[in-house]
Amino acid sequence: MAVSINKLARKSLSLIEPYVPGKPAEVLFREKGISRIIKLASNENPFGPSPEALKAIKKKLSGINRYPEGSAFELKEKLACLLKTRNDQIIVGNGSSEIISMAIQSFCEPGDEIVFPSPSFIIYKILAHAFGAIPVTVKLNSDMRYNIESFFEKISGKTKIVILCNPNNPTGSHINKKQLEKFMKNIPERIVILSDEAYFEYAEDPQFGSCIDWLGRKNVIVTRTFSKIYGLAGLRIGYGIATQDIIKTMEKIRPPFNTTSLAQYAALAAIDDHVFVEKSLINNRKEKKFLAENLKNLGFNVFPSQANFIFCSHKLNAGTICKELEEKGIILRPMAGFGMKDNFIRITIGKPFENRLLIKELRSIIARGGYHEKTGS
Ligand SMILES: Cc1ncc(COP(=O)(O)O)c(C=O)c1O
Repeated sequence: MAVSINKLARKSLSLIEPYVPGKPAEVLFREKGISRIIKLASNENPFGPSPEALKAIKKKLSGINRYPEGSAFELKEKLACLLKTRNDQIIVGNGSSEIISMAIQSFCEPGDEIVFPSPSFIIYKILAHAFGAIPVTVKLNSDMRYNIESFFEKISGKTKIVILCNPNNPTGSHINKKQLEKFMKNIPERIVILSDEAYFEYAEDPQFGSCIDWLGRKNVIVTRTFSKIYGLAGLRIGYGIATQDIIKTMEKIRPPFNTTSLAQYAALAAIDDHVFVEKSLINNRKEKKFLAENLKNLGFNVFPSQANFIFCSHKLNAGTICKELEEKGIILRPMAGFGMKDNFIRITIGKPFENRLLIKELRSIIARGGYHEKTGS
């Protein structure tokens, strides 16, 4: 008889629950035959991709018989100019998730500890286990704000990386400059700080604390992405910024041709698409306010957000609310998959008509007190 695969696979994989993404629109269409679907589950840009990015890749389609320029030289030049760094301080990845993965692979030996907030982006835990590191979580305050002191309580001699998710997914909470300064002043030199800034473009607080300001003064890696404000989630492209030494180390394990040529061209064009970025930011600002006010009126507890989503809770069961909304073609993200209680939901901020439809449907579900709960179905 063949040996069980669980026995052959690395032991730490038994600790991993596979990542469950927001339900794709195609799945809802297949399951329910609903064709008009409003997806507010994965923090994507509701306006589609940057139009300039679309134009650029259409022009380059005939070149896809060739391998891409693996190091993404041109994109790095552009980013370096924008960020006022050298281009050898940048690494480009298949989404920023790949940069996070490469950082962990580059710096963690099995048994090293990775400290990160909870709740936060699920892949930190998955990647820690995948490479034999030990995930150590730091609870956010009950109002979902960061408590910097509590990070120091979790740091040990085995800590190799501390991940800051700023703004944090799923809560939208952020670290301000003062908190970051306190953190940096007290963090031991030997620790690598990975600042996941996938949503930083949306941050409105002028005191938002980016780790970009700490490059080189500490062992900082900042990760950012084209998946959110630039609307390129499906192309998979993101980047990391750090010192030359850190980037040189991470480049050793970067898979060749890890980003496609089309993704690189799209990213290059998207950076210059200021009109699209501005439109996305204005919508986010206005609609976040609209959603927050209306959710509060419906009895939701709404947590302040610096991102393109809203984290909230309700006395009704979130799974029930989300199931009912799916019947109407609206997909949100219940937070049970993030290891949270059943009444938390994350809502991506959509276009004005999407948000209004969501509020209308929520109003009717809440007025009925949650159909599924009453019938038990
Ligand atoms: C906090 C955070 N970091 C990173 C990512 C991954 O983004 P990418 O598409 O660049 O891999 C996400 C995606 O939702 C995220 O929420």
